[in-house]
Amino acid sequence: MAHDLERLFAALWNDYIRLAPDAQAIHQLFARENNGQVINDHIALRTFNLLEVNLDTLARPFVQAGYQPRGEYQFPQRKLFARHFEPPHPELPKVFISELRVEQLSRHAQAIIKTLVAQVDKSAAEQAHFCYSGRAWSLNLEHYDRLLEESEYAAWVAAHGYHANHFTVSLNHFQQPVTLEQVNQKLIQAGFAMNDSGGLIKGSAAQLLEQSATLARPVTVTFSDGQREIPGCFYEFARRYPMADGRLYQGFVAASADRIFESTHTKKT
Ligand code: NI
Repeated sequence: MAHDLERLFAALWNDYIRLAPDAQAIHQLFARENNGQVINDHIALRTFNLLEVNLDTLARPFVQAGYQPRGEYQFPQRKLFARHFEPPHPELPKVFISELRVEQLSRHAQAIIKTLVAQVDKSAAEQAHFCYSGRAWSLNLEHYDRLLEESEYAAWVAAHGYHANHFTVSLNHFQQPVTLEQVNQKLIQAGFAMNDSGGLIKGSAAQLLEQSATLARPVTVTFSDGQREIPGCFYEFARRYPMADGRLYQGFVAASADRIFESTHTKKT
C-alpha cells in the first residue's frame, strides 16, 4: 500500500514539474543540504464541486489507501471549501483538496464549467491517476477569459485540469534546523519570485504553522483556438510547531491558505 502511494506521489511530482518550471531547481537546492532527502509536508489538489469531479471523488483513491479526512476550511470570498487528509504513514505528505462552489458563480460561468465537466469520463475520475491526468475537456480562450473575470481559481482549473497544484517542502524534516525566513532569503537570493501577499510568511508560531510560497511562473497552455502563457503551479514551504502535547500541529490555517491561493493569480491584488 505504501509503495502504491509512493508511486502515486512520484507520478504526481513528474507531472507537476512540467507546470512548475522552478520546482526541480528549488528541490535540488534543498536536497543538496539534506542528503538528497526532501520530505513533503503536503500536496494540494483543486477541483469543482460538481459530483463527477468533486473533492470526495478526488479524495477516494487516497482514502482507499488509508488516508483519513481531518480539518475542514472555508474560503467564502473565493467561494471555496477545502478538507485535508492525513496519511497512513508520517513520511507521506498530507493531501489538501479544495473545491469551487460552482453554484455561487454567475449562470454563465456555471454553464461553462458544466460543459467542461460533462466531457469527463466518470469512471476515469475515480481512478488514482485522474489527479494528475491534466485537462479532460476542451476549452476556448473566450470561456477561459469569462471564468477569469469571476474566479482566478475557476480559470486555473479550467485551463490546466488535474495536477498537483503545489508540493510543499517540510522544514521540520531538514537535517539542520532552519527558519522559514532563512529559506525565503535563500530563494530570493537565488532569484525565485515569492508570493508576498500579506507578507512573505503566512501564519505564525502562535498559529502553529508558518508557510511561504513561490509565485507560479507562466507556462504555455494550448486552448481549442490558440495558445496563451498563464500561471502554472508553484512550490510551498512549511514549518510546523508543537501543540501542548508536544506533537507537531498537522492542520492548516485558513487565513494563510487564502493568501497562498493567490500564487496562481494572473492579476496581483
Ligand atoms: Ni499548501
